[in-house]
Amino acid sequence: MSVPAHIPGDPAHPAAAARVAVSARAGRLSGEATVPGDKSISHRALIMGALSVGKTAITGLLTGDDVLRTAHTMAALGAGVEEAAGPDGKSVWTVQGRGIGGLSAPQDVLDMGNSGTGARLISGLLSAYPFTSVLTGDASLRRRPMDRIIKPLSATGAKFNTSEGGRLPMTITGASLPLPLAYDSPVASAQVKSAVLLAGLHAPGLTTVTEPSASRDHTERMFRYFGVEVEVGPAPGMGAGAYKASIIGQPELTGRPVTVPGDPSSAAFLVVAALIVPGSHLIIRNVGVNPLRTGLFTTLQEMGADVAFLNPREEAGEPVADLEIKSSALKGIVVPAARAPSMIDEYPILAVAAAFAEGETRMEGLGELRVKESDRLTVMEKNLAACGVSARVSGDALIVRGGAPEGNTTVTIPVNLDHRIAMSFLVLGMAGNRPIAVDDSSAIGTSFPGFIPLMNGLGASITAADGQELS
Ligand code: S3P
Repeated sequence: MSVPAHIPGDPAHPAAAARVAVSARAGRLSGEATVPGDKSISHRALIMGALSVGKTAITGLLTGDDVLRTAHTMAALGAGVEEAAGPDGKSVWTVQGRGIGGLSAPQDVLDMGNSGTGARLISGLLSAYPFTSVLTGDASLRRRPMDRIIKPLSATGAKFNTSEGGRLPMTITGASLPLPLAYDSPVASAQVKSAVLLAGLHAPGLTTVTEPSASRDHTERMFRYFGVEVEVGPAPGMGAGAYKASIIGQPELTGRPVTVPGDPSSAAFLVVAALIVPGSHLIIRNVGVNPLRTGLFTTLQEMGADVAFLNPREEAGEPVADLEIKSSALKGIVVPAARAPSMIDEYPILAVAAAFAEGETRMEGLGELRVKESDRLTVMEKNLAACGVSARVSGDALIVRGGAPEGNTTVTIPVNLDHRIAMSFLVLGMAGNRPIAVDDSSAIGTSFPGFIPLMNGLGASITAADGQELS
């Protein structure tokens, strides 16, 4: 089967209908689970497959909307992208790549949906092709800044034309002879770093990017796995903790098999749910535990969480383990700003854990949360308060005082196209006495298709306001 013609939220097709979901206090959560494939690694596997010669077979690919957009985009740029059942019945995605420099002009606008990662990584790629493409996205993505990638990518010779404020929709006319880059990024952002490295893959010689501290290194690991010469290490003279990655451009890449581990950012919702719902005991198999992604687990352990890593192993250059979680009494701590890059997507669910901890949890250095799928700093402060939890923003810090939500009336949280806000508040509803509703559970399909049935199978009680089955 070739890539599905219908993807939720595609303007060419009806958008997934918003569904209200209500999470009521759960009994204990127990059992074994797996979570869908890592979103970051899934995007990169499709892109690297398209840039390689021959076949890349991907197992465990996340089939959330964000990644399906990237799959469609790779097909629109000339790669062959197909999904079929593998020998064990599990789905395998095959990419027939075109090689570096081999992609062709898309016939239509490229709609990245909700995906900042897709938009920014693919902009890096398109900056190195001498044709014009138009990129757009949903209302959330159209609010997010693109200047952070336009600035470095313009130095390759590519031209960008954005909507007001450096936003999507934008056109990119790539350079015919892309120049290698040396860029010092002011933010620790894997999206910025990866956009530069993907452009550099098409340029002759050395491309280097530094960042103030290391963001997730899935691009560097996957480049290496596909045979790119990659060097990483500290960035001398750029401050303590600064990081540098360099690559040699224009390699010949050959397709290869990729196994995508479960997404630690998705596992995070199960982990926190198990910690805060009394009497719970969960095993989550096959979770990616790249040290640049595990800041939440470290933080929870510091708060007193019983989270153990079992059977550590490596797959396609990425560390993987099984997680065992037992509900625990948590205490508030200070989470240092230096940890933010390793758990940047996990602050909404950490704030939920903090609501069930004794004392105050102070999460520092969260300026980047303002430019995610929603302004997560403001959104968490406001919605926790709406649930009766004491939360405030002070500068770039979020401070939450433990005190589970009480009351009989259901609180409804506006999701505003932010999947992680929807899942975080459904988890909050599992452990307090007060039912919590989210006004659009369909947004969860961005990163975690099947979240609600999975949680209900483990003991949660999430129901649809309209009485229909929730997917
Ligand atoms: C991602 C990087 C992160 C993260 C996003 C996925 C990636 O963004 O928030 O969900 O796959 O590169 P930044 O690195 O820009 O913070």
